Order: sequence, then structure tokens, then C-alpha cells
Amino acid sequence: MGIPVIFLFLYYVACLAAASPNIPAVIVFGDSTVDTGNNNQVGTILRSNFRPYGRDFFGGRPTGRFCNGRLAPDFISQALGLPPLVPAYLDPEYSIEDFAKGVCFASAGTGLDNATSDVLSVIPLWKEVEYFKEYRRRLQRYAGKAEAMRIVGEAVYIISIGTNDFLENYYLLVTGRFLQFTVEEYQDFLIDRAEEFLRAIYWLGARKISFTGLGAIGCVPLERTTNALAGGGCVEQYNKAARGFNVKLQELIGRLCATLPGLRLRYAPVYDGLLHIIANPSSYGIENVDRGCCATGRFEMGYLCDELSPFTCPDASKYVFWDSFHPTEKVNWLMAKTTLETSLAEFI
Ligand SMILES: *[C@@H]1O[C@H](CO)[C@@H](O)[C@H](O)[C@H]1NC(C)=O
Repeated sequence: MGIPVIFLFLYYVACLAAASPNIPAVIVFGDSTVDTGNNNQVGTILRSNFRPYGRDFFGGRPTGRFCNGRLAPDFISQALGLPPLVPAYLDPEYSIEDFAKGVCFASAGTGLDNATSDVLSVIPLWKEVEYFKEYRRRLQRYAGKAEAMRIVGEAVYIISIGTNDFLENYYLLVTGRFLQFTVEEYQDFLIDRAEEFLRAIYWLGARKISFTGLGAIGCVPLERTTNALAGGGCVEQYNKAARGFNVKLQELIGRLCATLPGLRLRYAPVYDGLLHIIANPSSYGIENVDRGCCATGRFEMGYLCDELSPFTCPDASKYVFWDSFHPTEKVNWLMAKTTLETSLAEFI
């Protein structure tokens, strides 16, 4: 049963050897699934720049990644022959020299809907785009106009967003969206926001774009906990909302590719892969699928994920989830692999 993991590892090493000179940078937009530390510089309580976050990262260092280790874009960057991590744009330890090879504008807790980023005072998606514009100007000053435009045009873009619009906004009933829209209408509203965003970065020069579909959002431990009276299983209503969104997202991608010349926008499917891990954990060397490693794993994330909790698991690689909301490094690596094999395959 351990064979798939060994196979995946060999694949990963092979990828590392096949560095692509055509891809000068990885550029990231989205939420906590891909935020490598921007929230550290923002006035929000949604933080993770303290232990035990980062305990399996280089030097055991917490960075603001909501994980024990690295996120999917870090693995993707390394597999493309670029640095082994993608720096957060707001991190003062990095400069434009670093960002020329990869930059992350993502913010944990944000969404496609402006109202979602308001819930926890994080960076709205439109502001991520403003930072991207500023980045382009800095890149031009640093590398010259022609080289800056080459980097922006040849870079691979990773977009991962939408979970919070459902779990931290719509279904949490905190913003009124639940009263304003049916689920189908809200999916359409989010797809319209995704279209605005994608057109904006297209006009700013982005071409090779991977948009990650939603995962099985009803299976995160926090949602299982709220479902405890019904047996603690995945919340099917939320998974169904995610699947419906994914169908509409793929339609949008087809439509935009047909209308915007030169756009190579691709869909990264992670929903089925995540469910496969949850249904067949032992093939991945995993023993726990329904609780996070950190603390009791039932509801903790951010500051509640306390270093002193005696319940925190010793080996996160045996878990699907690191905290009650976010996958472990191992699962992030599996999702990076899926992305490299699907949406990014033609660019490598
Ligand atoms: C979101 O907020 C930005 C900035 O205020 C605004 O430009 C944009 O129109 C808003 N989007 C929607 C759908 O309201």
C-alpha cells in the first residue's frame, strides 16, 4: 500500500530535474491555501506566524503559512526549477530581486466576494490586484521594461480562492449573503467576481494561469465538528456547493479562453483527489482524516492552535489536516503534484 507514495516521490524528483527555462516566476493570488505570510503584515487576528505552525518548515520556522510546512505553490516553484518557497509580497525580508522569481499576494481569510475579506479584516482580492500593479512597476525599475514584461507574460499564475466565501461568509450567516442569494445565485455571483479578477490580471499581462477548483470543503474538521450531532461526517451540503461552483468555474474558463487571445487559463481539479485521500488514507501512509493534528484538531486554528496543547500530534504526515481548517504539508504536496500534472502540464 506504500507504493503510490514512493511513486509520487520519484515523480517529484524527476520534476525537479526538469527545470523549465521558460518559466521565470510563480505568481500567486488567493487565500490561506496559498498565503505564504502576507497576513503577518496586516491588522487581522487570522495569523499563524507562531509555533506549532511551521514546525516542519525549513529550520522549524513559523512563517504565516497555515501549515506545519510548505504550501502547494512552494512545491510547484521548486519543481519548476525556481526557489523552494514563494515569498509573501508584504514580507520586508524579501526584495524585488527575490520577487522577480516568485511572489505571493494571497491573504488568509479572503474571498472572491468583497464581503468575505471584511469578516476578518484581511486583504480583499481587488487589493491583491493593486499590489500586483505595484509589483509590475517595481519590476520594470529593477529589470527594465522589456524583461519585466517577459517575466509577467511567461510566469505561471496560481489562483486558489473561494472556500472562505462559503465557509466564512455564506454559511456562517455573518454578512447577509445567505438572505440575499440562493446557493446557485451566490455561485454565479462568485463566478462573476472571478471573471472580473481574471480579466484584470489578463490585461496586466498574465497568460499562463492555473485556477484551483474548490476541494471537499464540507470535510474539513471544523465543519465535521459542527456536524457532530449528525455523526461527524462530511457536510454534504457544503461539498455540493463546492462541486456546483467547480462546474461553473470550468464553464467560465472555457468562455474566457475562447474570447481572450493568447490566454492559457487552466483548471486544477483537487476535489476528487482530496476525497480519495480521505477515503483511502492508508495508501498515503495517513491514519487520521477527520481531525487536525494541532491541539484537539476539532476546532482550533490560528491563535487557538496553541504550542502548549498536549493533544497536538507528534507526526503530521499521518494526518490529512494540520489544523481544523487547513491540510498538512503532505496533502499540500499531493495537491501540488495534481496541479503539475493537470493545469500546469502543458507549460512545463
Ligand atoms: C469590491 O470593492 C472594490 C473596491 O472598493 C470595488 O472597486 C469593486 O467594485 C467591489 N466589487 C463589488 C462586486 O462590489
